[in-house]
Amino acid sequence: MADLTSVTLGQWELWDGPQYHRIFLGVCVSVTLLMCVSLYYYLVKVADRCTCTTRLDGKTVIITGANTGIGKETALALAQRGARVILACRSESRGLAAERDIREKTGNSGVHFMRLDLSSQESVKEFAQEFCNAEERLDILINNAGVINDGSARTAEGYELSFGVNHLGHFLLTNLLLEKLKSSAPSRVINVSSDAYQLGRLDFDDGIHGNIGRVKSYARSKLANLLFTHELSKIVEGKDVSAFALHPGSIDTDIKRNWAWWLRSLAPIISFLFLKTSTEGAQTTIHCAVADGLQKHSGKYFKGCRVQKVAPIARDDKLAKKLWRVSLEMTGLTNS
Ligand SMILES: NC(=O)c1ccc[n+]([C@@H]2O[C@H](COP(=O)([O-])OP(=O)(O)OC[C@H]3O[C@@H](n4cnc5c(N)ncnc54)[C@H](OP(=O)(O)O)[C@@H]3O)[C@@H](O)[C@H]2O)c1
Repeated sequence: MADLTSVTLGQWELWDGPQYHRIFLGVCVSVTLLMCVSLYYYLVKVADRCTCTTRLDGKTVIITGANTGIGKETALALAQRGARVILACRSESRGLAAERDIREKTGNSGVHFMRLDLSSQESVKEFAQEFCNAEERLDILINNAGVINDGSARTAEGYELSFGVNHLGHFLLTNLLLEKLKSSAPSRVINVSSDAYQLGRLDFDDGIHGNIGRVKSYARSKLANLLFTHELSKIVEGKDVSAFALHPGSIDTDIKRNWAWWLRSLAPIISFLFLKTSTEGAQTTIHCAVADGLQKHSGKYFKGCRVQKVAPIARDDKLAKKLWRVSLEMTGLTNS
């Protein structure tokens, strides 16, 4: 039987018999473990918080994909600050349920669902028309909706779905609302992108929207979000309209339904260990929407409520201009 009265590691005697040494060692190990778990929890699971207390009374905000996840949490936070909030969602039942829930929680009756399906350019045009006819102003446009798919699904116009929804739909929407944003200046456009942009490439010879698989298609659409923000900030320069892009963090939302089946089966473990809540995930969007003095950062990328450097491909002027021109053609805006 092993001798438990003395344990040594090299020259160190870790356990030499007397009771108080064992207790001391146990306490040290427990405290170290607790500190490691707390540090891990803080670094991985807790996001930087938007600390700005600005109210939004009298301001109008549009948030796409606001019936769930990061979009819904953002809508809730901005409604709490007194904004008139338009929930631009594709499903009437989910959109109205979110409208009810946010009104109940905030007591703000200026929260309204409006139908918007970003996978149909017709729907985007109808939404923009209806909004411009009904609303006097637009202070903040939050392009939040997003999809991941296997690369084979298509929009109504036949474009690859994640590129069509995440980039083209929002590109068209923003351009159709640009005059309203200008006349309500100072105003902001916020594009919810992702760090996944770093895996993205834009191949114009491939018709830009070819099927390149789930991850690459999503990454390409998120790179397009950054290049769109970069170019938009130049186009609206001097008009008091700012454009920001952001990464919300790794967040536990319904976006998991778009994961590959094998990843979905690991979702509970991944969520527990690595993902933050939707409330945490909304913080950088809220910061970009309400923080004072951000105009000087127009065109920039935010993460953890702070400006981040981006990879050279995301601030490539030539690429951004080309994407803008091709996107105008793909949305028929060149003819309008
Ligand atoms: N979660 C993350 O870890 C993470 C990380 C980086 C970036 N992001 C980005 O954060 C944004 C929000 O994602 P989330 O995590 O909150 O995802 P989510 O819970 O799946 O929410 C996505 C929203 O987009 C809407 N949507 C999808 N297709 C649409 C369409 N054709 N037209 C209009 N709305 C549409 C969805 O509506 P339905 O409910 O009707 O489907 C839903 O409201 C996305 O742009 C995503 O790429 C998320």
